[in-house]
Amino acid sequence: MEEIKFNQVGVSFKGSGSYVPDQILTNQEISQKVDTSHEWIKSRTGISERRISSLGDNVTEMGYEAALSAIEMANWDIKTIDLIILATSTPHDLFGSAPSIQAKLGAYNAVAYDLTAACSGFLFALITASQFLKGGLFKRAIVIGADQLSSFVDWNDRRSCILFGDGAGALAIEATNEFDNFIGFDMRTDGERGSYLNLPSKNNKDSIIDNIEFLTGGFSSIQMNGQEVYKFAVKEVPIIIEKLFRKTNYNSDQIDWLVLHQANQRILDSVGDRLKIPREKILSNLGKYGNTSAATIPLVMDEAIKNNRIKQNDIIATSGFGAGLSWGAALIKWG
Ligand code: ACO
Repeated sequence: MEEIKFNQVGVSFKGSGSYVPDQILTNQEISQKVDTSHEWIKSRTGISERRISSLGDNVTEMGYEAALSAIEMANWDIKTIDLIILATSTPHDLFGSAPSIQAKLGAYNAVAYDLTAACSGFLFALITASQFLKGGLFKRAIVIGADQLSSFVDWNDRRSCILFGDGAGALAIEATNEFDNFIGFDMRTDGERGSYLNLPSKNNKDSIIDNIEFLTGGFSSIQMNGQEVYKFAVKEVPIIIEKLFRKTNYNSDQIDWLVLHQANQRILDSVGDRLKIPREKILSNLGKYGNTSAATIPLVMDEAIKNNRIKQNDIIATSGFGAGLSWGAALIKWG
């Protein structure tokens, strides 16, 4: 481990980027495959359509595009980037996809690695990167959330296939010794409830030579108890955000934007109601993209930043939640 290089007190947010595949799958099209309808999906989830990776897309490509766009907005020399964390559950390479993104970017001075925490992944990666920056080890970091769940959805399971889509988002964050725009965070996991949402391995028995057996590697499809995940989200997310408000001496009235993992519009509305945050302050783009797992938070933030909705010094309460079970929250000031 290197020694502390910088005398830093905080983190500032310098850029955002995102990428979605071109291919669109509408609710009407899904209803040609399974017994469902646009009306059912829209009213129960808020989703109208989602993006599906084409044959040329993968997490490395999508993550690279999102990272490049965030770097351009930050106006950084790529060689000054110290750290790249890719949050994903669907890497193009199971050994890790972040180093491939590093190479494509030409970020030769960065260390790059993957982090897996399903739909909480981006938030956990952002918290991890911020701690490196505040600790004085690194100055500039790119945090990417990218997932290609379409490869792991059971397209015959109407209870889950309606929810998910593919995409990527990224934020560029920098250490500073003047102020701290990473106001506070909290993170939790509960493996006891892990069986509510899984993407389990699927192994077949084979043998190398007589008497030496082994299991082939592979994965099953997403298995989800939707009602339990729903109940978990609407209970735990308000609790962790309220706890964070108390810890940081903030309250709901001071929040400009609530940026939640885009799982279901009903979850977003319910959490907003519990926190007494009005609907117009809750960012939502899941109508267009569905649940893109680790990508949702930077994807919806990038859209709001580029549309000039999120402005310099806006206060954002954000929360990621999902498989694990895992959940977390952060309070940040944009800029
Ligand atoms: N079309 C039509 N009917 C359907 C469909 C569908 N696509 N899916 C389920 N139904 C039926 C069910 O069979 C059930 O019928 P029944 O009453 O005759 O048995 C009825 O609709 C109601 O089913 P519920 O499961 O109670 O529906 P619910 O209102 O809970 O909505 C949903 C289901 C949308 C999955 C919801 O529970 C949800 O969003 N849960 C959260 C899931 C989630 O966010 N997962 C990702 C987390 S993030 C991560 O880590 C990846």
